[in-house]
Amino acid sequence: MSKDRRMGLNAVIFGLGSHEAGWRMPESNALASTDLDYWIDIARRAEDGGFDALFLGDVLALQQSADRHLSDAMDPLIILSALASVTSRIGLIGTASTSFDHPFHLARRFASLDHITKGRAGWNIVTSSNALEAYNFGLDAMPDHAERYARAADVTQAAMALWDSWQADARIAEKQSGRYLDPAKVQPIDHEGPFVRSRGPLNVPRSPQGRPILAQAGASEAGRDFAARYADMVFTVQSDLGDAQAFYRDMKARALRHGRAPESLLIYPGIVPIAAQTLGEAEDRLVQMNSFMVIEHVLTKLSEFLGTDLSEANLDAPLPDTISANGSQSQSSQSRVAVLVKIARRDHLTLRQLLMRLASGRGHLLAVGTGADIADTMQLWFETGAADGFNVMSPVMPADLESFVNLVVPALVARALFAMDHHGTLRQRLGLSRAPGFTAPS
Ligand SMILES: Cc1cc2nc3c(=O)[nH]c(=O)nc-3n(C[C@H](O)[C@H](O)[C@H](O)COP(=O)(O)O)c2cc1C
Repeated sequence: MSKDRRMGLNAVIFGLGSHEAGWRMPESNALASTDLDYWIDIARRAEDGGFDALFLGDVLALQQSADRHLSDAMDPLIILSALASVTSRIGLIGTASTSFDHPFHLARRFASLDHITKGRAGWNIVTSSNALEAYNFGLDAMPDHAERYARAADVTQAAMALWDSWQADARIAEKQSGRYLDPAKVQPIDHEGPFVRSRGPLNVPRSPQGRPILAQAGASEAGRDFAARYADMVFTVQSDLGDAQAFYRDMKARALRHGRAPESLLIYPGIVPIAAQTLGEAEDRLVQMNSFMVIEHVLTKLSEFLGTDLSEANLDAPLPDTISANGSQSQSSQSRVAVLVKIARRDHLTLRQLLMRLASGRGHLLAVGTGADIADTMQLWFETGAADGFNVMSPVMPADLESFVNLVVPALVARALFAMDHHGTLRQRLGLSRAPGFTAPS
């Protein structure tokens, strides 16, 4: 492994943090999700803490049992646009769906974000999987898994073509002659795909990164293939080192098969860190968070992931044998099913214990301990071919982001695994090459 390889760090935020019950913690401002000051505070902490990017998840619906947990969510692109003006170094990655947005809108919004941030924008490409999202857009159900990914490819290809429809030096802006742009350098795309059509060109000039960073999070066969073709960064749910290494190897090999350099596809497992001065303190904090969990709500969520109604199941018995890890029952997230079922079987969890894991870490790697303990885990994953970086999913904001910055980041820096290095565009900082065919104006 190269000596100067630098670990990447994204701060991932869903609402008030990744723990289902985080909003009920005594220190939480439960109504903060609609308060811009909350988002500004988080962005500044993450930027000052050295994170490469802030990464906002999104779902286009108020979720099941919304009366018992926080699922309201403002549009990530609106939040990130506001954060663009109060940050200057951190990347801003927002989630948007290929199932419910037209590529012209998507290409335009992310190119605009890339301009106003001077090259710090990223798009987390999701296909959407929740039926409630379908209902909000006039559908009776979500299209099936294969169709969603086929559409995602079509929409992404169109968005990429729209970004590429402008050469970087197309604007001449010659006041004397009155020539504003060179028409030869701004071309229609005439995209006619199976799902979407767009003539183009885009009405936003080429942005500083050429195109935003593309992140993606599905890990089924179709999801992996999609990521290997299009993504710069893969967000993955892993809680077992061996599985994470296998996933990493598989993704790098797929990138190669698609004619890409393996290092052009970065693998970021999610990690849910609870850092404290002592292991005991960190464990107590997890116990406190879990004490606020509403069991019925998390049970509904697990049933939904597994595609099986568990409302009558015995909470103090193991997960029923009929549930398999291959995810065949689930049309929502096959990868998440595999991880959750595997955790339950490997650690001999009762259903109640599995619900706690889901509430606190959503199936991601849960790292509870001192800064050094958590840094040990991250170092192991980074140095043994399981991760290029991590999506840090602090369970309760801002407290757990703060303790990560104060306790884990210094340990990573001291071991020369991470550097507080904020030069250039997000793409440059991540060591990713320019978009193909993109030459920045001199
Ligand atoms: C770690 C992770 C994070 C995700 N975040 C979101 C999200 O913010 N919004 C969303 O609509 N889907 C999200 N998804 C769902 C994926 O985009 C995808 O639709 C789903 O995982 C199904 O694909 P798969 O079967 O290939 O895993 C996420 C999935 C994973 C694994």
